[in-house]
Amino acid sequence: MTSEKQRHVPVLLNEAIEYLQVRSGSAIMDCTLGLAGHAAEVVRQLGPAGKLIGFDRDPHALQLAKEKLDQVCAELGEQAPAVELIGEAFSAAPLHVAPGSVDGVLADFGVSSLQLDEASRGFSFMADGNLDMRMDTRRGPTAAQVVNEASERELADLIYEYGEERRSRRIARAIVRGRPVTTTGQLARIVATAAPAMKQDRIHPATRTFQALRIHVNRELDEIKALMEAAPKLLKPSGRLVVISFHSLEDRIVKDSLREGAHQGIWTVLTKKPVTAGEEEIERNPRSRSAKLRAGKRKTATSL
Ligand SMILES: C[S@@+](CC[C@H](N)C(=O)[O-])C[C@H]1O[C@@H](n2cnc3c(N)ncnc32)[C@H](O)[C@@H]1O
Repeated sequence: MTSEKQRHVPVLLNEAIEYLQVRSGSAIMDCTLGLAGHAAEVVRQLGPAGKLIGFDRDPHALQLAKEKLDQVCAELGEQAPAVELIGEAFSAAPLHVAPGSVDGVLADFGVSSLQLDEASRGFSFMADGNLDMRMDTRRGPTAAQVVNEASERELADLIYEYGEERRSRRIARAIVRGRPVTTTGQLARIVATAAPAMKQDRIHPATRTFQALRIHVNRELDEIKALMEAAPKLLKPSGRLVVISFHSLEDRIVKDSLREGAHQGIWTVLTKKPVTAGEEEIERNPRSRSAKLRAGKRKTATSL
């Protein structure tokens, strides 16, 4: 049987490590540990004077990341770096990480395969489960609360804005008529009936609605904005930020923020165009198809 840890394949791993320029003795912050695919490789390169600070707001992911990193550190023995894991949203990083103290910041947004594959987490319409979608299972409204309590207008707006779904009004009306909506399967059927797939569609008709609810429930875009604001303050001069996005709403925030920061003398943009996965990686790991990596280097003479 394949275990959760074996199934997960980190996206754009070599490219992320290369842009981070992990060196022996570096301090690296991984904002999105997930199953520690990227973090494990970082830890192997840090040496005994180095440090990894890892964040994940999903308590189950944090636990699995800890097990994985403990194992890697045990293999490394005396060569293992210090590892500090923090079970909070990465927007809280300034509360835990001193200004100007890290050499690299890595973020790999979105859901992990662990979250997607576990039906009870409610992220996927491929398996029927509770309509939850919270990464941080300790707090915040679930997707079920949102679809059952928001007004039709609010639902339509969020599906339009975060799902970039043109048929959002029709979908919102069908959801309100179908309440209470409690499972992913029920929601997927309501959406597919209200806005069936069109000939040219390559994705399931509920994909955009699910994306919208997930972004809303987890305040994902606010988190990314907070990170882009905090990163230059947490990095040492010449420190590097490496960000992997999975859809245009995420990537746009990163791209615009790096560009604006470059004008203000905060960033040197290292990726004129986003780095994407090659054919071989896409074949091995279909999730990498939509990944876009962008990187920036903090300019030396910046007062922030
Ligand atoms: C795509 S996975 C990361 C995979 C990881 N790079 C690996 O190779 O195993 C994203 C992870 O980030 C976490 N996450 C997403 N947004 C977060 C946030 N704002 N704060 C903390 N963790 C977050 C999710 O819970 C999930 O476990």
